[in-house]
Amino acid sequence: MKKTLAKVVITVVALFAMLALFGCSSEEPKQEAEMAPEATEAAAPAADNQLEIFSWWAGDEGPALDALIALYKQQNPTVEVINATVTGGSGVNAKAVLKTRMLGGEPPDSFQVHAGQELIGTWVAADRMEDLTPLFQEEGWMGAFPEGLVKLIGTDTGIWSVPVNIHRSNVVWYIPANLEKLGVAAPTTWDEFFAIAPKIKEAGVTPLALATNWTANHLWESVALASLGADNWDALWNGELAFDSPEGVAAWELFGKVLEFTNADASSLSWQQATDMVVDGRAAFNIMGDWAAGYMSTTKGLAPGAGFGWAASPGTTGEFMFLADSFGLPKNTVHRDNALAWLKVLGSKEGSDAFNPLKGSISARTDSDLSKYNDYAKSASADFGTDRIVGSLAHGVTANEGFMNDFASVMEMFLAGKDAQAAAQASQQIAVKNGISK
Ligand code: GAL
Repeated sequence: MKKTLAKVVITVVALFAMLALFGCSSEEPKQEAEMAPEATEAAAPAADNQLEIFSWWAGDEGPALDALIALYKQQNPTVEVINATVTGGSGVNAKAVLKTRMLGGEPPDSFQVHAGQELIGTWVAADRMEDLTPLFQEEGWMGAFPEGLVKLIGTDTGIWSVPVNIHRSNVVWYIPANLEKLGVAAPTTWDEFFAIAPKIKEAGVTPLALATNWTANHLWESVALASLGADNWDALWNGELAFDSPEGVAAWELFGKVLEFTNADASSLSWQQATDMVVDGRAAFNIMGDWAAGYMSTTKGLAPGAGFGWAASPGTTGEFMFLADSFGLPKNTVHRDNALAWLKVLGSKEGSDAFNPLKGSISARTDSDLSKYNDYAKSASADFGTDRIVGSLAHGVTANEGFMNDFASVMEMFLAGKDAQAAAQASQQIAVKNGISK
């Protein structure tokens, strides 16, 4: 009964959030950091022994989360777990629902949030999260995660979430047997891609599969990294390089050229459907985060290496654009103790090594048992140790939700008009508006 009620509440909230989402591009999105303080009423007392976790890991994205929940249930057999998910890659829909719930004073007990500005510049800035330093101390986690990652989940005043993985964003995926048929190899630069793309097209195959708009942001960051280089990529986010500098404009120009070799129906496809195009041989390549490795191995049953291949996206060899999923503890949650027990499972070595081999990511911990991981993950782990690390825009590391919402509109404008100069100028305006550039 309570479960049904919770579902109804979530559905109603989701409907409101979707309305807000559709209205989003026509009105100025509000900066999260400016959100009004939460309602002061105390949360309802816990009438039941539940744990509601909130994420966008639904359907094909679910198996890794299910493994974590199974572990949690083993350790907490009396707790009823409500696995609240809102479908939509990169959290496009879930984040809108979450915002409504947080503003409405109905936070889930724990929610998925990317390490970096999505967490710090959004929810911590709005004072919505509990400091997890005591949990990190109790669990002996102070040295368990890479220093660079800890900086992205912490501030001078606390540690604000528990990271569960490290994903790589700049990866190009292909099927070796399909490339052999086409007589091409995976390109290591965009010039190499432009050299082989016409031949792929002539064979009736899409050179590069693309999906719905957030995947255009995802492709953009790989292309921009190739165009700008790692130093200038970082300089964009610390305000040292303007988005409308000649380098910034060049990144949009290159992106426009790349788009010429993508499928016309992109906006109607999910990221899984774009990956399917590669798997089925309807497209030669796809640039996607390594959750695609999880999808191809866990869902599609393909073996890394023989069944599917990968490389750093063109022009980014030696660079690892990273992101990390984490879960936090919102203030005023109803089932706080159960949420803390959930976070303990998430941050544990056992939890991490149950989750990540299915997810396509590597553990966020420095002591993970690599024997549990497949060849793709082993190669990602090796690269993470040696590559230059930069943060992902599309998945929350470099910019807060205010910028991300605005950037979605800039991307829509570019996809419609392909005007690099205008997109670069608009990017600079939203960077200033959201406190990234001066
Ligand atoms: C990312 C997230 C990944 C994966 C992906 C596709 O933002 O970090 O874990 O879920 O979206 O939905």
